[in-house]
Amino acid sequence: MKPRHPETSAVRGAADLAKKNGPVSTPIYQTSTFAVTDNDEQLRTTGSDHYYTRYGNPTNTVAEQTIARLESVEAALTFASGMGAITTTMMALLKSGDHIVAQRDIYGGVNKFLSQWLPRMGIETTFVDTTDYDQHARAIRPNTRLLHIESPTNPALRVVDFAKITALAKQHGLISMIDSTFGTPINQRPAEFGIDLVMHSGTKYLGGHTDLICGVVAGRRELIEKIWETRTTLGNCMDPHASWMLVRGLKTLAVRVARQNENAQRVAEFLSRHAKVRSVHYPFLKDHPQHAIARRQMTGGGGMVTLEVEGTGDDARRISEAMRLFTLAPSLGGVESLVSIPVLTSHLMVPAAERAKMGVTEQMIRLSVGIENIDDLIVDLEHALEAIPARQQVTVG
Ligand SMILES: Cc1ncc(COP(=O)(O)O)c(C=O)c1O
Repeated sequence: MKPRHPETSAVRGAADLAKKNGPVSTPIYQTSTFAVTDNDEQLRTTGSDHYYTRYGNPTNTVAEQTIARLESVEAALTFASGMGAITTTMMALLKSGDHIVAQRDIYGGVNKFLSQWLPRMGIETTFVDTTDYDQHARAIRPNTRLLHIESPTNPALRVVDFAKITALAKQHGLISMIDSTFGTPINQRPAEFGIDLVMHSGTKYLGGHTDLICGVVAGRRELIEKIWETRTTLGNCMDPHASWMLVRGLKTLAVRVARQNENAQRVAEFLSRHAKVRSVHYPFLKDHPQHAIARRQMTGGGGMVTLEVEGTGDDARRISEAMRLFTLAPSLGGVESLVSIPVLTSHLMVPAAERAKMGVTEQMIRLSVGIENIDDLIVDLEHALEAIPARQQVTVG
C-alpha cells in the first residue's frame, strides 16, 4: 500500500486501540497502572504501554505513533513539555566529557540548558553561527557527539540547510538533532533529509489550541529506546489526558497549518511594504536570505512572522500593546494569533551580549499568525502600527 499523506496520518493516526465496534475517538486510559492475572503476565508486560504509566500508556502510544508516521520515522516519544523532550534526550545520549555543537540562535530555554546546566554534568557546547557550515565543521572535536539545530529559528526565522547538516553529521559520526517546532511535520520532514532526531514543543502547533504543554522526540527505534530508558528514570512522561488532547489537536494539524501558512504569507507581504517596519523575517518572502533553501526543504513558510520596527525597543512594545486581535502572550502555534517581544519573553533568559550575537534585537516583534480572517488581522496590524510616529525621511542633497 502507498504511504499515506500527512493530512491523512494527522487525522487517522496509528490508532489500533479500537477493535470492531470500538470507539472512533481514542479512549483516554486515565490510569496509573494496569492489572495482570498472574506474575508471568506481570513480567511480560514490564516496560510495555500496559504496565505503569511512567513507562507508557496506550493513549500516549497513539499520540507517539501518529507523530512517528507524520515525521516518516520508526518511533516517537511524548514528554511533559518541549524542554522535557530536549533535556531528557540530551541526558540520554550524552555523558560527562562529551561535547555538543549547537547553533547560536535557538530557543532561549535550550540555550540556557546547554550553556548553564549541561556544563555542571561535564558536557560542553560550542555555539556556532547558524548558517555558517564551515564554522560548524571547525567546532567539531574528537569528543563531539551531537549536532543540535533549530529551523526555522526562534525568533529570527533563519533556515538551516538540512542536507549540509546531515552530511556533516555523517562525516564525523555525530547524532543530528533538530528542534522542528516552528517547521511542523506538515511544512518540513527533516528525517527525510537524514536528520536523526526530530524534536517538537508539542505545546505549539501539534497541540494547536494553546491549552496544553507537551514535548515530542521522533527518530530511529534504537535511539528512541535509549531515550525511553532515560525518560522512565527521570519521570518526564506525559499525562494520558494531555496525550488525548494532543491526539485531538493533531487531527486538524494539516488544515490549521495550511491556513496559517496562507495568513502568515499575507501578513509578511503587508509588513514588508509598511514604512514603519525596518525588516520582515519570513522564509517564503523572496528576499529572505535562505529563501532558496526554504523552498527546497519546506512546503510552506509557516505561521511565524518576525518584524523589526523602524524605531526603538519602546516603539516595539507600544505596537505590541496596541494590537487587539494579536494577543500579547508568549508561546505560538495556536489557532489564535499571538504577539510577543522576544527580548522580554522567549529570550529574556539569554544575556544581552549573546542575544546581540543571535541577531535578537529590542525592535523585534514576533507574530504567531492564527487561523482568523486575514483581512481582520491586517486591520489589527495597520491600527497597531499607528501607535508610533512616522520617522522623518532623511533626504540627501
Ligand atoms: C522552538 C522552541 N523549542 C522548545 C520550546 C520549549 O517548549 P515547552 O515550552 O513546551 O517546554 C519552545 C517554547 O517556547 C520553543 O519555542
